[in-house]
Amino acid sequence: MSNFEVIIYQKQNNIGYVTLNRPQALNAYNIQMRDELYQALGAIKDDPEVRVAIFVGAGERAFCAGADLTEFLTAPSPVIARQVRWERDVWGLFLSISKPLIAALHGYVLGSGIEIALCCDIRLAAEDTQFGMPEPGLGIIPAAGGTQTLPRVISRAKALEILLTGRWINAEEALRLKLVNQVVSRKELLPMAEKLANKIAVHNPVAISYAKQVIIRGLDLSLEQGLELEARLGNLVLSSRQH
Ligand code: COA
Repeated sequence: MSNFEVIIYQKQNNIGYVTLNRPQALNAYNIQMRDELYQALGAIKDDPEVRVAIFVGAGERAFCAGADLTEFLTAPSPVIARQVRWERDVWGLFLSISKPLIAALHGYVLGSGIEIALCCDIRLAAEDTQFGMPEPGLGIIPAAGGTQTLPRVISRAKALEILLTGRWINAEEALRLKLVNQVVSRKELLPMAEKLANKIAVHNPVAISYAKQVIIRGLDLSLEQGLELEARLGNLVLSSRQH
């Protein structure tokens, strides 16, 4: 358990649970959430007892409705609001975690919400989930990696369409676009995430970590370089088993 205020961090059976916990503001991502998430992500990364993590949103209506617009509006300018958010590189930390991360999504998944989901490896969506990137409509562009992570998950054309038009997509379309792995009922969302997490958690954590790394890093390499990486990490897994 943690003493956080706008997230909840729990650990059970080798699973780390992060709950975005501002349901009255549809779990909008504010500076405090950035700071707390940074600590929770550090714990997930460093704690050997945590083998996989699940991210959820509190309340019935949203996983996360994006950046907190009240902070944007009270900052001297959107640029300064952005800089403040970047003081801690939550997104770099997120993407540096080699343990599997699962996003269990429901309701609104907008802006930073979709970007958090895209930092995860497996995305499950409840039937009521709605995704969108409203940033261009606010005169800004995504700044939590979304311009890079979205087209690496769905096609370039669809990523451009979603970002440029601001059109929202529902769970069914998200499944068709391969933005999510699976759509389930709201009731089944957490149990399904836990089922997947438990399947992962029983495996050798070193093998799991290298398997994640080789797939993700390999996507940004040529096939030849990717195969070299696979061979190198494969040898490391083997030598770690001999100790
Ligand atoms: N930042 C701060 N507060 C937010 C928020 C955000 N991004 N999104 C929702 N909230 C707050 C609302 O202000 C409202 O608070 P209140 O009850 O104190 O008035 C509460 O959450 C519920 O939202 P509400 O707008 O009443 O719900 P709705 O069903 O009418 O609309 C949305 C839901 C998601 C369509 C709407 O809240 C919205 O457009 N939010 C902003 C999305 C956005 O642009 N995010 C930024 C991306 S960069």
